[in-house]
Amino acid sequence: MKFSELGLSDHLLTAINNSGFEEATPIQAETIPMVLKGEDVIGQAQTGTGKTAAFGLPILQKIDFDNPNVQALIISPTRELAIQTQEEIYRLGKDEKAKVQVVYGGADIRRQINALKGHPQIVVGTPGRILDHIRRHTLKLEHVKTLVLDEADEMLNMGFLDDIEDIIKQTPKERQTLLFSATMPAQIKRVGVQFMRDPHQVTIKAKELTTDLIDQYYVRVKEYEKFDTMTRFFDVQDPEVTIVFCRTKRRVDEVSKGLQARGYKAAGLHGDLTQARRTQIMQEFKAAKIDILVATDVAARGIDISGVTHVYNYDIPQDPDGYVHRVGRTGRAGKHGVSITFATPNEMDYLREIEKLTKVRMLPLKPPTIQEAFVGQLNSAESDIADLIKKTNTDKYEKMADKLLDEYEATDLVAALLNDVTRDNVKVKITPERPLPHHGHGHGGHRNDRRGGGHGGHYKGSKSHRNGDRNNGSRNRGHYEGSNDRKHSDRRSSSNKKRRFTIKNS
Ligand SMILES: Nc1ncnc2c1ncn2[C@@H]1O[C@H](COP(=O)(O)OP(=O)(O)OP(=O)(O)O)[C@@H](O)[C@H]1O
Ligand SMILES: [Mg+2]
Repeated sequence: MKFSELGLSDHLLTAINNSGFEEATPIQAETIPMVLKGEDVIGQAQTGTGKTAAFGLPILQKIDFDNPNVQALIISPTRELAIQTQEEIYRLGKDEKAKVQVVYGGADIRRQINALKGHPQIVVGTPGRILDHIRRHTLKLEHVKTLVLDEADEMLNMGFLDDIEDIIKQTPKERQTLLFSATMPAQIKRVGVQFMRDPHQVTIKAKELTTDLIDQYYVRVKEYEKFDTMTRFFDVQDPEVTIVFCRTKRRVDEVSKGLQARGYKAAGLHGDLTQARRTQIMQEFKAAKIDILVATDVAARGIDISGVTHVYNYDIPQDPDGYVHRVGRTGRAGKHGVSITFATPNEMDYLREIEKLTKVRMLPLKPPTIQEAFVGQLNSAESDIADLIKKTNTDKYEKMADKLLDEYEATDLVAALLNDVTRDNVKVKITPERPLPHHGHGHGGHRNDRRGGGHGGHYKGSKSHRNGDRNNGSRNRGHYEGSNDRKHSDRRSSSNKKRRFTIKNS
C-alpha cells in the first residue's frame, strides 16, 4: 500500500520518500491509521518489517508543537535499541523539527537532564534510566498521550515488569498504549492487555514467525568442536557481515579473541564493556572495519544493521522467542539472509522447541571438512589476488619479481605466498559451557531466566541482578552513539535506491 493513502502529512511523506521507503509494509498499512485515530494497538509482525515507523510516523503526526510537554514515551529494552529508535524517529520528524530525546543508563545524566529541559515532545528510553529521571523530577509524564512498549513481550517479561509498571503509573490513565514485537506469547500478551483499553490486535498473517527471507540451518556439533566448525564454515561461505550469538559474556570474549587469533576481523559486544568500547565496536561493525560481531543477546532485539548476511547461534538460545529475534538481525527490509544454529546432541530438544514455535524446519548442515575449509580459503585467496593485481603498481616490483622468478620455481613462489595469505589455524581453546538443561515440552518454564542470558549474564538471570542494574544506571545495557546518517555511510547498504518489501502473506 502507498504511504499517501494512510492519512499522513506532507512533511512525513517527504521524510518517508527521503528514507527510500516506497510502499508501506503490511504492519505499517494496518496500524498507522489505527494509531492516528488514537486506538490502542498490539502490533505483531516479523523482524525487519518496519515496526519502528509503524508507531513512529503516527506519533510524529499527532505531536502538538505548541505543547511543550513530553507527549509520547517509547520504552526499549536496550540502550542500543533506544538510540536507534530515537535516530529513526528523529530522521522521520526532522522536517517538522520534532524534538526526540533519548535517555539510557551508562551515559552522563546531567547532559540528559539538560536535554530534557529543552522540552522534547518525544522521549525514547530504557526503563532504568527513565525511572531515574522520574525520581529526579527531570522527566514528567503526566502529559503523555501515547506510550509505546517496543519489544513488548520482553518489556512485560518478569525481568522488566516492575519497572514498566512503575513507569506506567506516572502516565495519565487517558492515554494510548501501543505494544509492538515480532513475538507475542499469549501469557505475556495477557499481562500487556491490562494496561490497555480495547486494544486492537494486528497480527500480520504469515505462515511462519520468522521471515522467509532467512534460510535457516542447524548443525549438530559437540561442544568442543564448535569453534573449529564455525571457522570452517566461515572459510567455505566467506560470509561478509556476520553476527555470532553466544550465551555468556565469557563466551563472547573467548570466541571473539579466538577469531582474532585466526585472523578474522572480529570483536565482542556485551554488557560488561565500557560504554566507550561498545560505541566503538558498533561503529566499526557498521563501517565494515569489523566483519564478525560476537555478541550476547544484548544485540538480539530490534537492532537494525543493514547488510548482515549471516547469523550464527554459537550457542542455541534457551528461549524459542529469543531465536526469532536473533536470526531476525538478518533478512531485513526485503534482503536475504542465512542463519546457522549450533546444537549439541543433548540440546536437540531446544531445536525442536524452536521449530515448533517458528513452524520452520531448519535444514541440517554438515560441517565442512578441513579439506573443504582449505579449498574455501584458497578460493577466497584467488579472488583476493585478482584484486591485488588490479591494485598493484607492477613497475615498482618488476626487478625483484624477475630476480625471484630466476631463483625459484614459479609454483614454489606462489605456493609460499599463498601459504602466507591463507589463515593460520592457531589452536583456540574455548572454555566449555554447560549445555542447556534437558527439558521436556512447553517453553514457558524457562522464560523467566531469559533476561540473565539476554543481557549477557550467566544464563540464570535473576531479578536482583536486574535491580542492581537499574540502580547503577543500566550497567548491563551499554550504548553506542550511532550517527543519523547510518543508512548512507554504510558501505553495505544498497545505496539510496528505493527499497521495496516483498512480504508473503500466507
Ligand atoms: N516501508 C518501508 N520500506 C522500506 N524499508 C523500510 C520501510 N519501513 C521501514 N523500513 C526499514 O526497514 C528496516 C527495518 O525496520 P525496523 O527496524 O523498524 O523493523 P522491525 O519490524 O522493528 O524489526 P525488529 O522486530 O527486528 O525490531 C529499517 O532499516 C527501516 O528503516
Ligand atoms: Mg523493532
